[in-house]
Order: sequence, then structure tokens, then C-alpha cells
Amino acid sequence: MNSAERYTSITLRSTQDNLARDVRQELTGPIKSLPCKYFYDPEGMALFEQICNLPEYYLTRVETAILKNQAARIIELCPSELVLVELGSGSSTKSRYLIEPCLARQEQLAYYAIDISPGGMENGVWQLLQEYRRLRIVGLVGEFADGLSYLATHASGPRLVAFLGSTVGNFTEEEIARFFTMLRHHLRPDDRFLLGVDLLKNPTVLEAAYDDSQGVTAKFNLNILARLNRELSAKFDLAAFRHRAIFNHERNRIEMHLVSLRDQRVRIGDLGLDIDFHQGETIHTENCYKHSQSQMESLLACHGFQVLSRFTDPQEQFCLFLAS
Ligand code: AVJ
Repeated sequence: MNSAERYTSITLRSTQDNLARDVRQELTGPIKSLPCKYFYDPEGMALFEQICNLPEYYLTRVETAILKNQAARIIELCPSELVLVELGSGSSTKSRYLIEPCLARQEQLAYYAIDISPGGMENGVWQLLQEYRRLRIVGLVGEFADGLSYLATHASGPRLVAFLGSTVGNFTEEEIARFFTMLRHHLRPDDRFLLGVDLLKNPTVLEAAYDDSQGVTAKFNLNILARLNRELSAKFDLAAFRHRAIFNHERNRIEMHLVSLRDQRVRIGDLGLDIDFHQGETIHTENCYKHSQSQMESLLACHGFQVLSRFTDPQEQFCLFLAS
């Protein structure tokens, strides 16, 4: 079979109307914020790819190195005839490290890639299909919950659900609780869960990772305003906002903000809305929580997951948890 015959793309739900609703809700309150999932339009995806290659952004490099070294071990701890599922698969660059040991011990492999970003996954997916002739890929474009519901009726056989890149860092403890509960509800006793977690470390290292010297993360952050300009006919002047990334010590999280550089009123055409900003007022665009290994292990245990193994790098910057 050629590549096209081994690939299916399914859009689970249009995210367009959610953007309008969420923007209205989060920019009209006393504290302004925007959901970080809206970073990932095609421009944002391209900028995020650049972030992953920045010298300061150690996360992708370290996690990839752990995966490279440990993937065979990870797959050994999973049942045979596995189905691979990835939540927030992005451009699917890390999945090859899991795909290879699977194909070494089974004839065929189905890989379900779930991501909010339409189009973002295409490039990586074609590359994988070219390289692995016994691989079939289903791209599910939508929210994690919708992707998992879809799998309940489609993916048979034991599954390895990978949630990599420290995407879990975007969740508050409450959101982790909800997410783990939802996930466990969708998993069967044979299934496995592989979770990539960025660990607590020196705040200087963390802040550099989110405020790089080339200004790529600043562009990535500001792109969310550019997206509102493009998709909601907003009139944000990108030069009137500045990127800020700071470590919040009380909450163990990096916070990303967009700081208004002056008093200003911004029109959001499609919402028929005018938003006022004071000089120095911020739009809170992202939280990236950092955890200790023991903290994440107890969160997993609290929600019925049993940690089978932990994989970390020599400096303990990042950790992969394999749980059942
Ligand atoms: C994709 C959520 C894991 O928190 O490190 C990178 C997003 N934001 N630089 C992260 C991000 C700014 C990233 N995650």
C-alpha cells in the first residue's frame, strides 16, 4: 500500500467558534487571559518548531534523548500487538522512537495522532509513512477528550497512550485531576500511559527556556494576537505589547504574559467588542507548571495509575513516567 492509503485524517469538531467564545470570555473579565491552546495555528506551529530547536529550550532535546535511549525498554513493558496513541502529537517528530521498537516485534502498527492543530501534523505524518511501510496513521484533529472518545469505538487492542513534551505542564492541579480521571475512564487494564514531565529546576534555566535570546518565544507569544487579527478581525498592534516570562515561586510555574506598553483600546471586529488596556496590564497567555518526580508520581497514583517505571536524564531535567 502507498502512503496515502495508510493515512486517514478526521476532524472531530470545528474549533473555530470556540475561539470567538473563549476570547470574548477571557478578555472581558477583570484579569485578562487567553487559552494557550490557541497558540497553535500554522504560524504558531512553525514558531513552536523553532522553539524546540533553541539552545535555551532544553525540554525537547532532553526528552528526545531519553526516548531514544529508553524506547525499547518502554515498549518491552507494554503488551504485544500494541496500538500507539499520541495526545498533542504536533508534528509527530518524537513518535518514531516508539514506532521503531513496536515494528521490530509486530507486523503492523496503527498510530493515532491527536492534535488541536489542523495541518500541523501533515508533514511529520507523510515522512513517517514513507519511512515505515508497515505503519498506518489516523490523524485526529480536535481536543484530547474528543480524540479519546473516538478511540473508545475505533482502536482495538492494547494501547500505549503517549502524552509527551510536558504538555501536562499547561494543566493546573485541578485540570490534571480532571484529565487523569477522564483518561483512566478511557483506558483498559492492558493499556499503558507514557507521560513526559519537565522537572523543577533552577529558575534562571527555566526563565531562559521561555525567554530566549533570539526572541522566538516572544514571537510565538505575540502570534496569538496576530491570530486574533487574522481570524477575528481584531486590530492588535503587536508593537504595543511585550512578551514576559517569569517563574512564579509560590506556584512552581512559568507564566507567560503579554504586557500592554501603553493605555490603549483594541477593536475585535468579529466580536463587536472594544477591549481597554492600561499601560502595564497583561494578558496571561500560558502557565507551564514544573513538578518534582515524587509529586507527579503521587498525582498519578491518586488517580489510579500505577507507575511501572521512570526514565530520566543524568541531570534529572526531565522525566518520562510509564504507568498502567
Ligand atoms: C508545549 C506546553 C510543553 O510549556 O514548554 C514553549 C509550550 N511555551 N515555549 C512548554 C511553550 C513557550 C510548551 N508546551
